[in-house]
Amino acid sequence: MPELYIGLMSGTSLDGIDAALVDFTGDKLRLIEFKYQPFPTELQNTIQRLSKPDALISLKEYGAMDARLGHLFADIVNALLAKADIPAASVSAIGSHGLTVYHAPADKFSFSLQIGDPNVIAEKTGITTVADFRRRDIAAKGQGAPLVPAFHQAAFQHPDEHRCIVNIGGIANITALSKDPSAPVIGFDTGPGNTLMDLWIKLQRNQQYDKNGDWAQTGNINYDLVNILKQDPYFNLAPPKSTGKEHFSLAWVYQYFDAFSYKAEDVQASLCFLTAITICDAIKKHAPDTERVLICGGGSHNAYLLELMQQNMECPVESTERYGLHPDHVEAMAFAWLARQTLNNLPGNLKEVTGAINSVILGGIYQGNKKGAASAPCLR
Ligand SMILES: Nc1ncnc2c1ncn2[C@@H]1O[C@H](COP(=O)(O)OP(=O)(O)O)[C@@H](O)[C@H]1O
Ligand SMILES: [Mg+2]
Repeated sequence: MPELYIGLMSGTSLDGIDAALVDFTGDKLRLIEFKYQPFPTELQNTIQRLSKPDALISLKEYGAMDARLGHLFADIVNALLAKADIPAASVSAIGSHGLTVYHAPADKFSFSLQIGDPNVIAEKTGITTVADFRRRDIAAKGQGAPLVPAFHQAAFQHPDEHRCIVNIGGIANITALSKDPSAPVIGFDTGPGNTLMDLWIKLQRNQQYDKNGDWAQTGNINYDLVNILKQDPYFNLAPPKSTGKEHFSLAWVYQYFDAFSYKAEDVQASLCFLTAITICDAIKKHAPDTERVLICGGGSHNAYLLELMQQNMECPVESTERYGLHPDHVEAMAFAWLARQTLNNLPGNLKEVTGAINSVILGGIYQGNKKGAASAPCLR
């Protein structure tokens, strides 16, 4: 019997939902089917408003958005299963990341809040659903992020070369994997991924993102501005560390300089360079032995960003695609893997990455009602 899990991811870019159906039979990793569902603009705007640091929202609005996202997550699972022609009863569990509306790992009462009610997902799909992955790590004094490094290790560690996996979503995070499997994994959020570029092109040209970095490429990088932004203390903070859109926003840019007094495309070029250089600096500082950089997440499609990264790294910078996994599938597959860890009573966090005092089993389990599922063998 195949051992099937579904991973659901919707990241800080607010672009939409990624759903991956993954087969783990024999401890191998194989993508069976993938589906992407973009968010309607109206939903994006509402979530954007709800997640502002100073947002005024009612509990009613918050609860309704939690439920609405739960329905959207459930619907994409059902569509994914129909596309794959696989019955829900064959799936052991869903791992649902949820949508981050606030990430505050450094506050006195630290928290990270993901919404998309897993009760709705379990009920509507019939499949056992694991959700709320980050808060247990935070309770164990971790950052609650990044959580993908353990999966990156399982999927990409190689005995012949030191690799660094870079996930460029709204925020960018790196996972440095030594060729020595007993060496500790290094991983943290480096800072902005696509988020500043997305916000600036939305404001200036009403586009969701800068396709291939084409607009940025028409501008000139203003290195003085980039150097000013690089003074932000986050970049020099020692890991473990994680961040979010609460910190890296346009208000963050404006506090350093008046973006409107420069050519808009030069600002875009500079923000693109900021993303590239802060990732490269982080790799050089924390994983100087890196022999290959593998990029995943939506930023992997930004050709100009990758070109800038390649110019600033001595080793090859490539998409994960040639190394087994399509860059758009990695994060959703990671949450399928994390759900499997949880069902097998295995930890999902790497405490050296998140800074937690313990390795912990992540997430809450919401039982499904399609029997025959959730009976995965424990493989380790
Ligand atoms: N062709 C492309 N060119 C440039 N950027 C892209 C392209 N495709 C996707 N992106 C970027 O990737 C983002 C989505 O990446 P994703 O990995 O889904 O991030 P998240 O995990 O934050 O949702 C988009 O908002 C956009 O900035
Ligand atoms: Mg996304």
